[in-house]
Amino acid sequence: MRACRRGGGLCLCALHAYALSSLLPLATRRAPDPEVTHDLVNEGAPIEAAAELGPRYEHDPQLLALPLGLQIPTLRRCAPPLRRHASFWIAALYTDAYADAAAALEASAARLSLCFAAARAPPLPARRLLALKPLFMLHTLRASPLPLVYMDADLQLAAFPRLFLPHAWPSPRDVLIFNWQANVSRGRRLKAASGVLFLNKSAPAEALLRAWAETMAHPNNSLSADDQALDLLVNDGGWRHRLAWGWLPQAYLRMPRFARVEAVINHPGWPGRRRTGAARPPVLPRERRA
Ligand SMILES: *[C@@H]1O[C@H](CO)[C@@H](O)[C@H](O)[C@H]1NC(C)=O
Ligand SMILES: *[C@@H]1O[C@H](CO)[C@@H](O)[C@H](O)[C@H]1NC(C)=O
Ligand SMILES: *[C@@H]1O[C@H](CO)[C@@H](O)[C@H](O)[C@H]1NC(C)=O
Repeated sequence: MRACRRGGGLCLCALHAYALSSLLPLATRRAPDPEVTHDLVNEGAPIEAAAELGPRYEHDPQLLALPLGLQIPTLRRCAPPLRRHASFWIAALYTDAYADAAAALEASAARLSLCFAAARAPPLPARRLLALKPLFMLHTLRASPLPLVYMDADLQLAAFPRLFLPHAWPSPRDVLIFNWQANVSRGRRLKAASGVLFLNKSAPAEALLRAWAETMAHPNNSLSADDQALDLLVNDGGWRHRLAWGWLPQAYLRMPRFARVEAVINHPGWPGRRRTGAARPPVLPRERRA
């Protein structure tokens, strides 16, 4: 996530990797070839029981606490008739400067009869806001009876996102995300854009979110981009093998540079230059016992 200033506020946006992508070789024509490394584990186990799914990481407990005044959204905010048929729902997090964007996102979800709820982030220093995104996803998924789709508040839905449906992939996935390298070396490395994540209701998905939130809550990472921290966990921390990933196509984070791609999820406007906030490359924290 990049913290970019607009109208004096901070947006939660995912496009820091944009500049880098122009250095990548052209994508091959191959269909997306998501990695399945093991079958999905889903026994509804609480996160504590998922410790064997991956290590815990050293962090500052204060940075791992939810900030006062943040209300985790719940599916109960969705109208019962919609809820009854839902197999996933969508949550977003916004600061005051992005209230209008969040309302537009909500309207786009309503047009597609999708359950949606947004949470307003209380005023926070930039470094707290950077760490908040994975923590927000972790708490929202824990409280959710259904798989969760996280979306940055400045995105909009343009068509029904079928890839979030239970049988959309050849095999069940824990986490779906946009990977700039999906079509490079068969997507064996992650270069994530964290604007959209599908998080299945599974122990591995929760374990990943916990590891990600702990990594962002490490004091050395307080000025790091959340998507770079996720890359680090996946590429260097062994998390590629701990869950079943799926790489979302360009249509699910459709930027103007993908001009010929018909959008399912739109990112309006060009991502700007990297400006503020997430400046320091993250480090992988030391593992710790329980
Ligand atoms: C989410 O997990 C469920 C339960 O294992 C599975 O049936 C479903 O296919 C998964 N969803 C996706 C999009 O892979
Ligand atoms: C990978 O290639 C497929 C097939 O051309 C395309 O649909 C998808 O958007 C590409 N993904 C990325 C991240 O470029
Ligand atoms: C965090 O930064 C300190 C001071 O620069 C350094 O000594 C320490 O090794 C760093 N921790 C990690 C996990 O890289």
